Amino acid sequence: MNTQAAAVDPRTRIIVALDLPGPAAALDMVCALSPHPGLFKVGLQLFIAAGPDIVRAVRDLGGRVFLDLKLHDIPNTVSRAVESASLLGAEMATIHLHGGRAMIEAAAQAAPAEMLLLGVTILTSADESALREIGVAGTVEEQVMRLAQIGVDGGLRGLVASPRELQPLRRTHGSEIKIVTPGIRPRGANPNDQKRSLTPREALEAGADYLVIGRPITAAPDPRAALDRIVADVV
Ligand code: C5P
Repeated sequence: MNTQAAAVDPRTRIIVALDLPGPAAALDMVCALSPHPGLFKVGLQLFIAAGPDIVRAVRDLGGRVFLDLKLHDIPNTVSRAVESASLLGAEMATIHLHGGRAMIEAAAQAAPAEMLLLGVTILTSADESALREIGVAGTVEEQVMRLAQIGVDGGLRGLVASPRELQPLRRTHGSEIKIVTPGIRPRGANPNDQKRSLTPREALEAGADYLVIGRPITAAPDPRAALDRIVADVV
């Protein structure tokens, strides 16, 4: 693991995805996971079911929130949404880099210094044939690298990247950019629908700053013990 990575408490680098059906289940999980991981990810499923109150409620329990709504709209709408997310107390949030340079710049300007705004490149559900269909030539990796560059040039300080994109992104963008990586599976864990996962240790060694982990923790019989095992494994 690089020395910068080793210096940070590994628990703070874990983001637990609260992909749960409603606020009661999500808040029970926040209470169960004590001491807390770095952040809790609130995504579309939970946000649509529970509304912005879920962000306040997680914060009231002492949790920090990554609001993963993957915003993509005209620059004015996205920059206002970023402002709203920040006022709500989200410390990390996502936008789609497919929104283009003007949208990215507006969003980056709207994000206050204390918020880490992350750009999402190509979803791992898309393959090369999906790119062809929407008129994109080149490989998935080329398109990821192109979008990431536009994001960084537009003022973003962070990216979401799948395990297989970590090394090329780190090589190109150095250590200044924060990289958040989902698709993490501890050794021996159920892969669920993750096709190209890395273990927590592998992902940190490949250059991730934060790991997004959902079901290996939230669907475990004892979520807190599962989180503790992952932390112990990367120390
Ligand atoms: O349960 P699991 O650990 O697979 O959850 C991973 C989380 O990361 C989910 O919230 C999922 O939507 C998200 N994610 C992903 N792969 C991507 C982008 C986001 O698994 N490429």
